[in-house]
Amino acid sequence: MNLLDIRNAKLEGKRVLMRVDFNVPVKDGKIGERHRIKAAKETIDFVLSQKDVGVALLSHLGRPKDREEEFSFRNFYKEIGQILGHDMVFVDDCLGEKVKNAMGVLKTGQILMLENVRFFGPEENSGGKLAEELAANFDVFVNEAFGACHRNHASVVGVAGILPSFAGINLQKEVAELDRVGKIFEKPALAIIGGVKAETKLPVINFFAEKYDNVLVGGKIGLDAGKQIISFPLNVVLPRDYAEGGLDIGPETIKRYAGYIKRARTIVWNGPLGKFEQSRFVKGTEAVITEVVKNKEAYKVAGGGESVQFLEEYGLMEEFDFVSTGGGAMLDFLIKGTLPGLEALQSCTI
Ligand code: 3PG
Repeated sequence: MNLLDIRNAKLEGKRVLMRVDFNVPVKDGKIGERHRIKAAKETIDFVLSQKDVGVALLSHLGRPKDREEEFSFRNFYKEIGQILGHDMVFVDDCLGEKVKNAMGVLKTGQILMLENVRFFGPEENSGGKLAEELAANFDVFVNEAFGACHRNHASVVGVAGILPSFAGINLQKEVAELDRVGKIFEKPALAIIGGVKAETKLPVINFFAEKYDNVLVGGKIGLDAGKQIISFPLNVVLPRDYAEGGLDIGPETIKRYAGYIKRARTIVWNGPLGKFEQSRFVKGTEAVITEVVKNKEAYKVAGGGESVQFLEEYGLMEEFDFVSTGGGAMLDFLIKGTLPGLEALQSCTI
């Protein structure tokens, strides 16, 4: 994939619009997952290290119907600044004069956090006028929002068609790492897929069933398969028993899955194996991921919002070779080999 690396851009004196994906879960008014924010730091640091540069971060948060205060970055920009280790300034807009003025008074080392882009009209179909307005105050666009690259949205695709556009450092890593586990991988290769949404997980189970030696299934999809609501190829391994209450895999399944995990040389994990937000249904995910971590020879990649939350909570992020910032984007990229946001970057000329 031919992406222009931000590290090769001439940024001196430029106003840079950086699309990030800070669409993170929020718990009691605090950021509930830091990985997506931390993953953007290397690119932010690089851009800030350039002479006379001004940087604004643009993201969506949730799926607001209107300008609901709970989805405003006003609530989170300070915490984001702490995570990134930079002084953040907030402006309650992402278009027009307010943004222009805020960019004009940014001090060296400061970053401007723009308001939730979803407050400013529909982003669908790459956004037309909205994309033009978003681009108007800037000279250069950087996409460091792999998690949003499956959306054909104004702030992801549209702006890249207007400004000279570059790929962020983590975005490039995502492409390289997911290409690796999707195309060139060591065998035995094992995918562990859990979660609730059958419509998003079924294509990915079938994708891995075709390429990998085995797919271990958990979560609600496992339950549905057991009830023969869904059927799978023979190398897809389904739970044999369930924990009391039925919302987690049981001890026999854990033991059986551990056998596959021990032998694997590539492991991809996406989605919890039980309803892990309730402590009595966390055991299956805990046991399976402990087994994954014990396998030091396998190349290990994880992704998906809930999996990342689990790894952060258990302090296991470093045990994986790569943790994707993408949920739907990770799955779409594995299956299709590209995404609208990446296509837009490739067709951009500078
Ligand atoms: C995600 O969390 O998968 C991305 O941020 C995209 O969010 P969306 O599904 O609301 O477009």
